[in-house]
Amino acid sequence: MGKLYGLIGHPVGHSMSPLMHNGEFKALGLSHHYQAFDLSPEQLEDGVEAMKMLDIQGFNVTIPHKVAIIPLLDEVEQEALDIGAVNTVYKRDGKYIGTNTDGKGYLLSLLTLMKVKDLKNKRVLVIGAGGAARAVAVSISRAGVLSLTIANRTLEKAENLTSVCHAYTTANATTLQEAEMMLSHFDIIINTTSIGMSPHLDRMPLSLEDLNKGTVVSDLIYNPLETKWMRLSKQKGAVTDNGISMFVEQGALAFEKWTGETPDRERMRNAVLKELGGYSC
Ligand code: ATR
Repeated sequence: MGKLYGLIGHPVGHSMSPLMHNGEFKALGLSHHYQAFDLSPEQLEDGVEAMKMLDIQGFNVTIPHKVAIIPLLDEVEQEALDIGAVNTVYKRDGKYIGTNTDGKGYLLSLLTLMKVKDLKNKRVLVIGAGGAARAVAVSISRAGVLSLTIANRTLEKAENLTSVCHAYTTANATTLQEAEMMLSHFDIIINTTSIGMSPHLDRMPLSLEDLNKGTVVSDLIYNPLETKWMRLSKQKGAVTDNGISMFVEQGALAFEKWTGETPDRERMRNAVLKELGGYSC
């Protein structure tokens, strides 16, 4: 029988998740449905109660509810607690359990890009210390890296994030200026800030003067699909990727948690790219 899944956020109108999940339900012959629900912060508590009454089998959580939902759930997985945010809820034995597939999704997409099984000998630089950085930095350090450096405009926020990651790896905080001078020291550099996102296409999170050939440079931005920073990195011989891979993988992991089925990542990616193409027309 068809089951109901969904998304809560505010706003949710431009989310590509309904298209991605409903497309995959259809392609796999599942009669489930994924519905976006726009809930303001004031409506969150009643909204989550309503989701439970509807017997919804799982849902995604997006801005601004990823932190506020935590106390409203029956259980929250440790990784999501470390990140301090829930992006996916699933139902098991009558309980609504919070997890976070953003960080894990990013990690898996990075392993695929690099064609490696782990990051144990990699030195990683994360630029930014906001919500996206927390997911990426925590999941990467839980998986194990040689070292993790977090660079942020507000140093204190980077220091707070390193204190969580310290439990899993060698982590330190730095300024953007210092990171810029140490670029050649890193194997993987990840931009989690919105610098370079449309319409500010000319901006870059860091100058790339000291970038080594062969470094992996990843930008979580997908609007535009290739930021100026990614384009220049590629010109300097870096291996680059945009934020589509993480978006697709976090969705695929949620899909697997909910249905037990393996979605076709390539088909999901194509659906998202088609939608983005439509937006920019
Ligand atoms: P998200 O949840 O998408 O990560 P966020 O929590 O608002 O968004 O975090 C945005 C990140 O981008 C922060 O690290 C922010 O730096 P501060 O902590 O100093 O605010 C960074 N950021 C955004 N705009 C920036 C800019 N113009 N220059 C430098 N850093 C910027």
